[in-house]
Amino acid sequence: MPTPSDAEQRAGELRAQLHHHAHRYYVLDAPEIPDAEYDRMFQELQRLEEEHPALRTPDSPTQRVLGRVLEGLAPVRHAVPMLSIQTETDTTAAGAEAFDARVRRELGLGEDAPPVAYAAELKFDGLAINLRYEHGVLVLGATRGDGETGEDVTQSIRTIGQVPLRLATDAPPPVLEVRGEVYMRRDDFEGLNERQRERGEKTFVNPRNTAAGAVRQLDPAVTAARPLSFFAYGVGDVQGAAGIDPLPATHGALMDWLQSLGLPVDAERAVVQGAAGLVAFHDRIEARRDALPFDIDGVVYKVDSLALQRHLGFKTREPRWAVAHKYPAQEQPTRLNDIEIQVGRTGKLTPVAKLEPVFVGGTTVSNATLHNLFELRRKGVRVGDRVIVRRAGDVIPEIVGRMPGERMAYVPNFRMPTACPVCGSAVLRERGSVEHRCTGGLFCAAQRKQALLHYAGRRAMDIEGLGDRLVDQLVDAGLVRTLPELYRLGVAKLAALERMAERSAANLVAALEASKRTTLPRFLYALGIRHVGEATAKDLARHFGSLDRIMSAGADELLQVRDVGPVVARSIRAFFDQPHNVEVVEQLRAAGIGWDEHDGTRADAAALRLAGKTLVLTGTLPTLGRDAARELIEAAGGKVAGSVSRKTDFVIAGSEAGSKLDRARELGVAVLDEQGLRDLLEAPRGDGA
Ligand code: IVH
Repeated sequence: MPTPSDAEQRAGELRAQLHHHAHRYYVLDAPEIPDAEYDRMFQELQRLEEEHPALRTPDSPTQRVLGRVLEGLAPVRHAVPMLSIQTETDTTAAGAEAFDARVRRELGLGEDAPPVAYAAELKFDGLAINLRYEHGVLVLGATRGDGETGEDVTQSIRTIGQVPLRLATDAPPPVLEVRGEVYMRRDDFEGLNERQRERGEKTFVNPRNTAAGAVRQLDPAVTAARPLSFFAYGVGDVQGAAGIDPLPATHGALMDWLQSLGLPVDAERAVVQGAAGLVAFHDRIEARRDALPFDIDGVVYKVDSLALQRHLGFKTREPRWAVAHKYPAQEQPTRLNDIEIQVGRTGKLTPVAKLEPVFVGGTTVSNATLHNLFELRRKGVRVGDRVIVRRAGDVIPEIVGRMPGERMAYVPNFRMPTACPVCGSAVLRERGSVEHRCTGGLFCAAQRKQALLHYAGRRAMDIEGLGDRLVDQLVDAGLVRTLPELYRLGVAKLAALERMAERSAANLVAALEASKRTTLPRFLYALGIRHVGEATAKDLARHFGSLDRIMSAGADELLQVRDVGPVVARSIRAFFDQPHNVEVVEQLRAAGIGWDEHDGTRADAAALRLAGKTLVLTGTLPTLGRDAARELIEAAGGKVAGSVSRKTDFVIAGSEAGSKLDRARELGVAVLDEQGLRDLLEAPRGDGA
């Protein structure tokens, strides 16, 4: 056992390293070491702390989940009140202009005075939190409550990986209160609900309520199982050393300072000039709203100068120097007119809500998914109810639940049909599954339609012009029953369809013709084999090099492919074991579909120049974009990893390469520039690269 002083030193080192790597991982999303290495250090620290309990400091990374279930949340009085913010409800440019005009008037600025500088940021849709750091250590996390008194949620807050338990500075101020928002990313929310759905448990309504509920949880283990995130957007009580105010002069600089202390801040934030700057920011973010990984309900404008903020002061409970400018809501009430059943590509029956059209999240929504019978029952919605619809990002619109209120008449509960509404085949539900499925396979027109649409998709065979409406027509008219029949459509047959001009018919035939030159991964993906997405299709093509080898591969051989597990292997085998699927493939090949064996699918994967090599990209390359570089590497059989480790073969570094480059040098990993990468790709085969 190490002596106490050795142990103390080692524990200190480990804590510092773990803090550093947790920040790289959770906040910067740029890990420098593999997860296993982090785990190893973590376990070493845990062991040391068990042997020497005196070393267990509250800021230790091992102390994120403290296992005490609380009986209730204790009230905390805020040292500085947590204010709310005035909301500008006019969602047009006028909202921003009105705020700027108000600020200019209060500051007594004439028309000729220069524009006011504003800090513009996102309005996160979560729960406001105050984090109190004393001498750099997190001592308290509290909710806003009524602004004067909140609740102590320190235990929950400590479970959030993005919240530093210790500030990243050697000279922390004696007191620093950081204010910000705890929220849940959309993908984390979807993932959480997916897991709940699989287990047949209650799903959550929206990311905001889920985040708020998780923070106010009494059991930290439950909170730890909910993936929460945090953004800092301001400060509360701040006391500098020797009474010196550590705050910078502007809000923008304040955010940079918080970031340097290891706190996550929003990357979209900007300092802009005057009303025009605000409007441009508002519009830019609105256009990007769906692409953001989390929900926002607007943007926030703050006068950038902290001196001007003090000058403007407060109006009762709201600062005069800030305003929230909203976007259209992502949840709206409407009426549930009907529930229909949709049959998907794999036969899954989905109950779909037919709604009174409603404008939500920037578009008009008239259909929303109800996922499955169990979810529908849990939400307790019936035809005729007033319901809340939610549409956020590119997520499919959903029914959140019903609005309170009594039903005027009895409406029977919805039941799943026992026969497929499209083809009449039996509907089955596997034991333990929440999904009902049509057993009709490609005999079912709905499944056929979906299979055709998938085949024609942009990322599959990319047949332009073959969309929903046309597929419906082709299948309904009995013109296309199988994929190969697509290639037997002539201009004459097509032009006979309703609303199909000769010209569009000719275009489609040309598009079908053009689709015949494809790549093996696209073709494989286009076949719609269950569990074979784009990535798996690429891996299969790269591994086997030819379609025949894939079709004849046994489950054992399939399991050799990266990321292919037993479920996927079984599904591929099952697909090619069906004679009619093999028939379809043969007919497609007979129709002239083919690919260039040099499209990253070369026959002998082992002979590829970068086969088995792991590369890491860092910095900006002079001509190649990130994606292009990755594609080139992958096409040559190499793998691109996110972090440098001893297993990395090459680091490709461009300008402004950061810590990954340092790490490569530390570990003695070969570092190349873009030209070096190109040389590597062009080197004769088998020269050691
Ligand atoms: S500043 C004194 N900035 O919106 C100003 N608030 O009432 C204090 N919010 O629940 C708030 N994003 O949690 C500010 N970038 C942002 C924000 C933000 C979200 C929340 C805040 C509060 C409400 C404001």
